[in-house]
Amino acid sequence: MEEKKKVESEINFKSLLKNPIRLFSLVYIYFFIVALVIGVYYVNNLDAVSFNTVPGTSLDTLNVVREIETKVGGMKPAMDLTLITEPTQELIAKGKNLYKTTCASCHGDEGKGDGVAAAALNPKPRNFHSAEGWTNGRTFYDLYKTVNDGVPGTGMTAYEFISPEDRVAIIQYIRTLGDYPEVTMAEVKDKLDATYNLSAGIVDPNHIPIKESISILADENKKNIELSMTITDKIKNDNVKSANLLKENSLDLEKVVYNYITKLNQEDYNSFIQKLDSDPVSLGFKASIVNLMDNDIKLIYLYLKNVSG
Ligand code: HEC
Repeated sequence: MEEKKKVESEINFKSLLKNPIRLFSLVYIYFFIVALVIGVYYVNNLDAVSFNTVPGTSLDTLNVVREIETKVGGMKPAMDLTLITEPTQELIAKGKNLYKTTCASCHGDEGKGDGVAAAALNPKPRNFHSAEGWTNGRTFYDLYKTVNDGVPGTGMTAYEFISPEDRVAIIQYIRTLGDYPEVTMAEVKDKLDATYNLSAGIVDPNHIPIKESISILADENKKNIELSMTITDKIKNDNVKSANLLKENSLDLEKVVYNYITKLNQEDYNSFIQKLDSDPVSLGFKASIVNLMDNDIKLIYLYLKNVSG
């Protein structure tokens, strides 16, 4: 009887009904266990949780090298300016072909601005039969500028790769599609040729891919580093007066040699001194070298020249 009473006094269901908040004291232990299990699970899987498994929406641009193609440059030939004022039938026919391959996808086979690619574009490609709403304008010069620079912010990109003569051919073809302003020799010479140098030809530089140029530079640099190490050893073992002068006045001998090989070896004595005076430390010398007598600096210069030559 005694026992029973004890249990009853411990869980007094009647008073529990009157004061339900006390229920919590009976079940909180289960909340606690569930929270603990979740916590342990979380900590155990922390590695996986901390990685973002959703792929980023933008590329890490620091690691993207925009590659360019290898291209042998050269002179784009000078062009005959009379082809602008007096186009030949041959030139126009050539322009028509070029137009079909390069421009028709947007501007349409007939030049009405209704090519297959036009639907997706806003603003729409220009209709060459109409004089309305042109951005750059319709003179020969304006047309040339449009092909050269494109129209920024629209589907009309710059067609830099088209040679001047081919551009002129395409423009001459376009001009047959509507009523375009006359071209005078004065406009051609004073505006077109003055801006784009058509009669002089264009020098087109060589291009090499960035990756290739990086590895060429790295190879070259490696060679220079190896060379400076060899020369530095030679200097360290040399005991003539000029070698000692050099050693006494260097903070970092190898740096001096490297800079000499890569930057200073083409210089005559006067510009050597100028470079030295302006920033001796970044060249690997002690700052105090600028206080040396001119003769001593000359000794150092001649010695470096000799030993690395
Ligand atoms: C990818 C589509 C596309 C291609 C390909 C294209 N164009 Fe365009 N072009 C446009 C769009 C879009 C415009 C309208 C730009 C604007 O509203 O100013 C335009 C406008 C023009 C204009 C008129 C610019 C002005 O003053 O309003 C000229 C001229 C022109 N293009 C010439 C050419 C020539 C020549 C070629 C081929 C070498 C070419 N386009 C190829 C999309 C294209």
